[in-house]
Amino acid sequence: MQDVTDLAFWRLLEAYGGADCYVTEYIRVYPNSRIGPEIERQIRDNDTGRPLVAQIAGEDIPSLARIAEDLQRLPIAGIDLNLGCPAQVVCRKNVGGALLKDLARVADILKTLRPLISLPFSVKCRLGYADSSSFEDLLGLLNQYQLDWVTIHGRTVRRGYAGQSDWEAIEKAARILTCPVVGNGDISSPLAAARILRESPLAGLMIGRGAVRNPWIFSQIRQVLAGKTPLLPTGSQVMEYLFRLREATDLGPLGRGEQPHVERIKKFLNFIGDGIGADFLYAVRRASSWSEMESIWARFLDHDRPMPLIPAPKLS
Ligand SMILES: Cc1cc2nc3c(=O)[nH]c(=O)nc-3n(C[C@H](O)[C@H](O)[C@H](O)COP(=O)(O)O)c2cc1C
Repeated sequence: MQDVTDLAFWRLLEAYGGADCYVTEYIRVYPNSRIGPEIERQIRDNDTGRPLVAQIAGEDIPSLARIAEDLQRLPIAGIDLNLGCPAQVVCRKNVGGALLKDLARVADILKTLRPLISLPFSVKCRLGYADSSSFEDLLGLLNQYQLDWVTIHGRTVRRGYAGQSDWEAIEKAARILTCPVVGNGDISSPLAAARILRESPLAGLMIGRGAVRNPWIFSQIRQVLAGKTPLLPTGSQVMEYLFRLREATDLGPLGRGEQPHVERIKKFLNFIGDGIGADFLYAVRRASSWSEMESIWARFLDHDRPMPLIPAPKLS
């Protein structure tokens, strides 16, 4: 996730059990672009012990080919092509989710990249751009390029993050695609996650915001799969996580001091707050110093009650 999940965050997740695999934020690819020193450092320094997949987002085929070749010289486990990003800055350039409007272009990209990527090669997509009417055409196309897996976020690009991820559509796609399918979108309950893994045709799950909100989620899912009751953190353990997150988001002298650091952690707190409550979210969004932030954290989290960290259902 752009500006959220980086090596420091993956390391923090590892302290709580960790995911089976991590994916970099997307590397924007265009003529003369480079992998970027920060992402390259994260790839080289990855000491989580977990495979790391590098994600690319672009539409210029020679540039995608060049970056795919450069990436294969780094210690990565695979390359993932982003066909899902809804951000305006990306879609305006016909990149990310906007490529779902141009399946011929997607085919050309896959035709070029597949033979030159000797590592596992995957695609992350949504159900379509404006609607899902061409989703089956997309799946038919993906079936032609020997992908190692496909990750599907069950919303259209135009929906952004509104509404709910459509898990029926994801499971239906898993029956059509001939490669393993990873489902994505709104996973926040370890019980629901384990049920999908046990009962659906999906090979795996990708968890984004739910992992920021609840870094215990991966070990909780493993506990449920092993027939155990998932261990819920207490309020004080969640507060300790926030202090560790503060350390993980500290850029040192590059971070330009307290105020920008407080703003940086709010990106995480936006997701975490959904699992704590509206009053917490309201308060942390208005905090402008660490002393304010710490007193809000203590007010809501200095207790030993178990916390499921699952957002309340949205009113529709
Ligand atoms: C702040 C933010 C940044 C994201 N950046 C990326 C990205 O770089 N690449 C990507 O494939 N998805 C990105 N996503 C989408 C997530 O990977 C995921 O598909 C989406 O949030 C739905 O899953 P979730 O409900 O588990 O978060 C981003 C999402 C958010 C909220």
